[in-house]
Amino acid sequence: MLLVSEPAFGAEEKAALAAVIDSGWVTMGDQVREFEQAFARMHEAEDSIAVGSCTAALHLILHALGIGPGDEVLVPSLTFVATANSVLYVGARPVFVDIGSAEVPLMSLDEAEAKCTARTKAVIMVHFAGYLAHRDAWQSFARRKGLLLIEDAAHAPGLPEVGTFGEAAAFSFYGNKNMTTAEGGAIIARSRTLRETIRQARSHGMTSSTRQRLVSRRPDYDVTILGFNYRMDELRAALGLAQLKKLPEWNDIRRNLSLSYRQLIAEHCPSVMVPFEAPWRSAHHLMPVVLPIASNRQRIIDRLRKRGVQTTIHYPPVHRLMFYRDLYPDASLPRTEEFSRRELTLPLHPRMVQSDVELVVNSLAAALGAEFPVGAVA
Ligand SMILES: Cc1ncc(COP(=O)(O)O)c(C=O)c1O
Repeated sequence: MLLVSEPAFGAEEKAALAAVIDSGWVTMGDQVREFEQAFARMHEAEDSIAVGSCTAALHLILHALGIGPGDEVLVPSLTFVATANSVLYVGARPVFVDIGSAEVPLMSLDEAEAKCTARTKAVIMVHFAGYLAHRDAWQSFARRKGLLLIEDAAHAPGLPEVGTFGEAAAFSFYGNKNMTTAEGGAIIARSRTLRETIRQARSHGMTSSTRQRLVSRRPDYDVTILGFNYRMDELRAALGLAQLKKLPEWNDIRRNLSLSYRQLIAEHCPSVMVPFEAPWRSAHHLMPVVLPIASNRQRIIDRLRKRGVQTTIHYPPVHRLMFYRDLYPDASLPRTEEFSRRELTLPLHPRMVQSDVELVVNSLAAALGAEFPVGAVA
């Protein structure tokens, strides 16, 4: 089965894990610090903070920015549920914003503006599928409205402009991401003060870590703020260091595969729309396509699966998930709902080669052909 995503581990990752095990130190230590510095360098940032997941990263950012009860945070609904959940964790209210269009399925600035109230404190923008939101436009919007800008960059590691939009960016190293530590995440934050608060809140709000107490031979510590256990461990950081070295090359492979998909889909599946048609800055995390209105997506998924091609959906709209439907029974985001009804995510990962793309596009063409046989009315 050709999977939508697949982690790429090799001898380097095995050796890195073995070295940590041999070292006898497995909790947050030198590997984590080295990974943080290397991750920051890749993004041309001063520093970064490694954490247990992107969800933890988003929670820490909102917590450290002081967002809480009574505040509203603008979020897209076309995202993974963690984006909105993180707002609820700090007691604030996520306000769902529709996408601009199926062609550019990123949060609509016009609608964000219309949904701003006196309680709106922040915006979390998601670089959906790896395609970067329009930085200048969002920055001037945030300035005009006095809002904090936060990037959910789960889909966009490896691009230096990520992390420069606003206060902070959250990254994911979950198993299906552009680079993985199995579970894991990182934060890039512009201000040193914010970084220090986040770093402390990552580990229970303590003033020193276990490793620092060992090295400094001082056993005492204090807790000066509310914190969490959102640490990354040495095994994951060692994996991250090995993966980070390959990330630029992998992102290039993803870009080339995406270009290939676009050409072949235009040729063989002209009724399928591929978002972000114009050249767009992207980490090419996903390959989303939009099926023709009249097609039966489940039948197409089943036909592709029979030919050995896995596909998925990004995303069921968050405001339509049962938990959020109970919280927001009247929410209506027609463009997000329509996009989500017709979207199909095709396989895209750096282990794929050109013939895999051909297999997927040929299978998609055959599946669509069976949906709309020549002569039939679609
Ligand atoms: C857009 C987005 N935000 C947040 C997350 C949460 O990431 P993690 O699983 O690292 O907590 C994901 C993960 O899939 C995601 O795709």
